[in-house]
Amino acid sequence: MNAPAPQALQVQAPAYVKNPKLIAWVSEMVALCKPAKVHWCDGSQAEYDALCEQLVQAGTFKKLNPAKRPGSYLAWSDPSDVARVEDRTYICSEKKEDAGPTNNWMAPAEMRATLNPLFDGCMAGRTMYVVPFSMGPLGSPIAHIGIELSDSAYVAVNMKIMTRMGQAVYDVIGTDGEFVPCVHTVGAPLKDGEKDSTSWPCNPTTKYIVHYPETREIWSYGSGYGGNALLGKKCFALRIASTMGRDQGWLAEHMLILGVTNPEGQKYHVAAAFPSACGKTNFSMLVPPAGFAGWKVTTIGDDIAWIKPQADGSLRAINPEAGYFGVAPGTNLLTNPNCMRSLDKNVIFTNVALTDDGDVWWEGLEKDQGKLPDHLIDWKGQDWTPAIAKETGAKAAHPNARFTVAATNNPALDEAWDDPKGVKIDAIIFGGRRSTTVPLVTEARNWTEGVYMAATMGSETTAAAFGAQGVVRRDPFAMLPFAGYNMSDYFAHWLKLGAQIEAQGAALPKIFTTNWFRKDADGKFVWPGYGENMRVLKWMIDRIEGQAQGQDTAFGVAPQYGEINWTGLNFSAEQFATVTGIDQAAWNEELKLHTAHFEQLAQGLPQALLDTKAALEARLSA
Ligand code: GTP
Ligand code: SPV
Ligand code: MN
Repeated sequence: MNAPAPQALQVQAPAYVKNPKLIAWVSEMVALCKPAKVHWCDGSQAEYDALCEQLVQAGTFKKLNPAKRPGSYLAWSDPSDVARVEDRTYICSEKKEDAGPTNNWMAPAEMRATLNPLFDGCMAGRTMYVVPFSMGPLGSPIAHIGIELSDSAYVAVNMKIMTRMGQAVYDVIGTDGEFVPCVHTVGAPLKDGEKDSTSWPCNPTTKYIVHYPETREIWSYGSGYGGNALLGKKCFALRIASTMGRDQGWLAEHMLILGVTNPEGQKYHVAAAFPSACGKTNFSMLVPPAGFAGWKVTTIGDDIAWIKPQADGSLRAINPEAGYFGVAPGTNLLTNPNCMRSLDKNVIFTNVALTDDGDVWWEGLEKDQGKLPDHLIDWKGQDWTPAIAKETGAKAAHPNARFTVAATNNPALDEAWDDPKGVKIDAIIFGGRRSTTVPLVTEARNWTEGVYMAATMGSETTAAAFGAQGVVRRDPFAMLPFAGYNMSDYFAHWLKLGAQIEAQGAALPKIFTTNWFRKDADGKFVWPGYGENMRVLKWMIDRIEGQAQGQDTAFGVAPQYGEINWTGLNFSAEQFATVTGIDQAAWNEELKLHTAHFEQLAQGLPQALLDTKAALEARLSA
């Protein structure tokens, strides 16, 4: 005879949870996932501290030396679980065409039949955390609520930093408010009385990051890392939100938002889409170099923008997040001083190295410190010395090592970062990582040409996603891994929105493209980048103000050498030509890639983009 099934855990919601649909859903998920306990997160500092202490006890967190890095922790993940897993990410719309050719798709019924057995008992022996969060300022008409159920305390504390997380969210949803249900498990159930044998439980063989756009649900299995597990970020604020935006007439974008103020006090707002690990956090915290006295750049957001057209035809943007989950390697006082200051205290570091005095280290910090450290423990827990690194090439920090930190730690935080009305967008930038071909900066001659440039953008892959690195792929709008629906329909949505605003007689933001990453024959970056990107940003402002004439090229309007403020930088006209040159042969090859890209996206591809391509080809061969 079989042993009697264990009594299902009774769900006891706290009195402040008054939404029957939510309680019923949690009960259903508890019955399925079978956790040993349920913890309803209230979002308090005391709860955060207790969960961090619990993670220290479990070995997931190391508390850093409070004299060096107060209130901060270091986590090392399983070496198999270090980045987003794009090949395991699914858009499960009813129709395959609605997911489009760039997304993995499975029919919802089939996916549910796949996931149900995996989720059955998946939280055994663990605690289920009920994490209530708001994407956007609490109660703002543009914000949306999610509830994440996760068996990872690491996820719960990261969500506290990355979102507005806690009890007040339940007041917003009241008895019948809407929320996006998000279920996450590391996919490593424990047998009766079994203890974890690892400090980073995950499922090394089975991972699923699943979105049901029609019913607005997210199910994530097997990974504890970043965008795979912090479901408010890419899963909700981009994949699900992009479908909400398509249906409701707004945009959810992989964009930073910054404010730039000139010495006269005139302020502009710029949104910029660069693919993962291509410079968004960096640009959003830019410190203007010498030669830009009186200029100021302030951060509204570093990764995601929700952009909504207003009655007057303007576009206003909010940052739905409340923290930064940023790339550590390469960050130092020269490249991003505001970011370094943000990391002084109350930070969760993941996959960076540990110093002998209980602080953190990553590649790039030797520039600040004048030398490499003599000894470290690397992100895999192994001894690291400069000699070992030289011999084996071992990195002390994983290239996708990250920090999690509250936006309020940022000394350059914009005063309107939390304003429910958002900020008015004056310019939009699309920028890829390209060693060749794509010029430093160009301006689209109109909205449609801008959409074309964004739609055909290519970029070299980075460590932010699992898989081969440095391979050029089309990454339209920096949204290839994040669009929750058919990419061609997404292009059409952008074109439609622009046409509506133009029909209103309102001015659209100017659209620019950038490429900070052109290399010379020796493989070195030619453009100095980082704070020096201010020189390009200033030229964009000059264009908005009608102060720079530019020059027409086949690929949009480009700056003349003399239109850039070069004060404080030696950058010759020859070097400028190297990063701005449009090489006919390279562009002929590039256009073949556009052709292949458009063939892949043929279903529903707007004719206007094919017309723009034909015009570009005609200009190039003229
Ligand atoms: P995600 O968080 O993955 O979306 O990345 P991101 O777009 O915010 O990129 P981030 O600003 O973190 O930069 C990623 C890497 O690119 C870091 O190692 C930076 O040092 C480097 N980087 C950023 N800006 C520049 C630049 O202007 N020039 C060069 N050469 N490298 C840059
Ligand atoms: C990205 O990959 O674009 C990120 C990191 O911002 S993650 O949160 O893992 O998506
Ligand atoms: Mn990102």
